Amino acid sequence: MKINQNYRNLKESYLFSDIARKVAAFASKYPEREILKMGIGDVTLPLAPAVVSAMEEAAREQGEKATFRGYGPEQGYPFLREAIRDYYKTFGVFLDADEIFVSDGAKSDLGNVLDLFGAENTVLIPDPVYPVYVDTNTMAGRKIVFAAANEQNGFLPMPDENIEADIIYICSPNNPTGAAYSVKQLRAWVEYANRRGAVILYDAAYESFVSEAGLARSIYEVEGARECAIEFCSFSKTAGFTGTRCGYTVVPFALEREGMNLHRMWLRRQTTKFNGVSYIVQRGAAAAFSSAGLEQIRQNISAYRANAKTICAALDGLKIWYTGGKNSPYVWLKCPGFSDSFAFFDYLLERAGVVGTPGGGFGRNGEGYFRLTAFADGATVQKACKKLQELFG
Ligand code: MLT
Repeated sequence: MKINQNYRNLKESYLFSDIARKVAAFASKYPEREILKMGIGDVTLPLAPAVVSAMEEAAREQGEKATFRGYGPEQGYPFLREAIRDYYKTFGVFLDADEIFVSDGAKSDLGNVLDLFGAENTVLIPDPVYPVYVDTNTMAGRKIVFAAANEQNGFLPMPDENIEADIIYICSPNNPTGAAYSVKQLRAWVEYANRRGAVILYDAAYESFVSEAGLARSIYEVEGARECAIEFCSFSKTAGFTGTRCGYTVVPFALEREGMNLHRMWLRRQTTKFNGVSYIVQRGAAAAFSSAGLEQIRQNISAYRANAKTICAALDGLKIWYTGGKNSPYVWLKCPGFSDSFAFFDYLLERAGVVGTPGGGFGRNGEGYFRLTAFADGATVQKACKKLQELFG
């Protein structure tokens, strides 16, 4: 018996599990202290009423013989895939509902999609970025090269012809920096990928936070992307589904490599290893994209945007450098007076009870920076900003 030796190359634990453990240890040491959690990007507002009533209705259907459903269609129910297709139309992207695969979230699909690719591929990953891309490829033993994201390039690295990448990760709006590519910038990535025969894995989990014209909501806004890109998205941040679980992945019919069709490969993979998302959750997800649902989820997104504005205003007042917060729920700041973001994490927790995420946890280039999430509730954000003012003002 041989274990997967690649696991030896992983960090001891997943970033957010690590942070959660540190916070739990602090809470048990100081039970009287208030902890203001702005670390993991977990939503705090409840599900939209339209989503809740659709799930209630679906639960009742499951309780009646006449309307009960067992296994659903493997790619997801047509009513949900059509709702997602129609959502894409609102920003000018025209997909076929059959190109959409419903899943339990973007994170799982981002890891699972690697089943389609050989272990010998070189993977290009921005640094800093969502740690799942690095960890899942490390588990598979792939060679990883990094695209440096930094203040000089606005945390938006562009393709480098000297780098020979086969699989390219793009997360826009970016987790953790909040930087978002324009459609024009993405065009350069699509051209690079098509020239090389590479595949782009595009994480659009935060697309609903894009507020500026010209910035991309989907990679398929770029011509030629259907020939080189797979897009991952989720209801987690758009509709508050972090605890409800539903996402979707778009694998265009036109995506082929080495004579194999990646859409058919993904269908084959999913039908073998995945049995779909519950009917009740899919009904709720579809209701999020109904006209009432869209109106309600937009109200929640506006509340998170207001939180981001509050954080940015506090940092402006303190003259602390930051970016993000405009097209993203994340504010990415320079640790004031600290070059070690983990030391800053400890300091902020000890002194102010404020929890954020150390930039170093997202990659080497994240060192010296810190991420605050606007998904916390409004009162927490207000209190945390006050604490920052007391500490650094
Ligand atoms: C984050 O905090 O980066 C996200 O919540 C992680 C995730 O979406 O899995």
